Amino acid sequence: MDEIVIEGGVPLRGEIAVSGSKNAVLPLMVAGLLTDEKLVLRGTPRLADTRTLAKVLGELGAAVEEFGDGPGEGVSVQATDLVSTRAPYEWVSKMRASFWVLGPLLARAHQAQVSLPGGCAIGTRPVDLYLNGLEAMGADIVVEGGYVNATAKGGLKAARVDFPFVSVGATHVLMMAACLAKGTSVITNAASEPEVVDVGTCLQAMGAKIDGLGTRTLTIDGVARLSGADHTVTRDRIEAGAFALAVAATHGDVTLTGIDENLLGALAPAMRLAGAELSETGTGLHVKGPRGRAIATPVTTEPYPGFATDLQAPFMGLMCCADGVSRIRETIFENRFMHVQELARLGADISLEGDTAIVTGVEKLFGAPVMATDLRASVTLVIAGLMAEGQTRIARVYHLDRGYERIEEKLSAVGAKIWRESQ
Ligand code: UD1
Repeated sequence: MDEIVIEGGVPLRGEIAVSGSKNAVLPLMVAGLLTDEKLVLRGTPRLADTRTLAKVLGELGAAVEEFGDGPGEGVSVQATDLVSTRAPYEWVSKMRASFWVLGPLLARAHQAQVSLPGGCAIGTRPVDLYLNGLEAMGADIVVEGGYVNATAKGGLKAARVDFPFVSVGATHVLMMAACLAKGTSVITNAASEPEVVDVGTCLQAMGAKIDGLGTRTLTIDGVARLSGADHTVTRDRIEAGAFALAVAATHGDVTLTGIDENLLGALAPAMRLAGAELSETGTGLHVKGPRGRAIATPVTTEPYPGFATDLQAPFMGLMCCADGVSRIRETIFENRFMHVQELARLGADISLEGDTAIVTGVEKLFGAPVMATDLRASVTLVIAGLMAEGQTRIARVYHLDRGYERIEEKLSAVGAKIWRESQ
């Protein structure tokens, strides 16, 4: 298994091109099941997760092809005929996004058997919102033997779905299902994340009638069929945020190309409070780290436009060496602090009080062997390794490969001493 090795203490300088969004490309690929025509997605990242999902879609009957090599490269999905409506446990347990095929399968084939995703390292992650929403659209759902068995004889019917709280995944699935349901659906408390807007925009290009993207209420007029489309995926705000934090953490000076400040949402003001300088250049976002230590800054994770849960761990990386005590509160997932133990191995001073991590900034971190525990925790260890004195060795980097494209190449190109070793 590969390890990432980092010699810390080098300020990052130069330019990094931000990749296409992982959290958008996965639901976009799933949306390819809604039509028998070809869906072309451009600017897609090359990730372990996209390859896993390609296999899942392939088993259901879709032809999934990567094309091109370099900026603008992409993937096409063509599900002319669905040969199966079953997504087994082996796939869904490997990658939660596979569960989302439930919506398109039910909408197009009027039936689906999809394994429950089960728990995962960051929390229990139930699926009640998905199931209640699809039932409201007329689906008969039986959960048995770890599977969701769903049928919608005669097709899904439009419904009003009031989510009790914001769920990104349930919004993706219900939005896709409503596109082919008969009548006008209204989804309240919908997620307004840029990735949901991106998926909705692609669905519109496929012929869907969706109103209210980017707000908490979606109104969707079902259509009889959707067509193919050619769509460029939004850039990855979570990857961009992790790089911005790595730049700040190393007192660096880097332009992140292909994005603007809006995409970072609540991270931008938090980084300014922490002492970083951010300015738009026309081609991207210029990030300059604080001259001295960062300033301790509190954050609380919330649905968009609040502070993203996916940036909670990376932000904690920066706070490890901040001047003062920062309180970092996680409200989306109940167990998303596994990185705390690993950061402690590098010398960080962090204690946990319920949903809040209290980070007392230390002058320095020191390199050590650490272990990646999940996708966003693993990038935090990279950030901490870049700050630390000496060598940090990160094991279980398959977590990192799920969501960050060629991270060691991108960081080496801006001066980091980082490389991959095969064990
Ligand atoms: C969530 C994050 C998303 C992030 C992703 C991966 C939010 C709102 N969502 O999306 O930004 O990219 O994790 O880290 O920040 N829930 C239920 N029942 C359901 C569905 C969800 O109780 O049927 C709960 C979840 O357990 C969680 C919360 O709702 O506590 C938000 O979940 P959801 O947005 O669905 O999770 P993801 O789509 O994975």
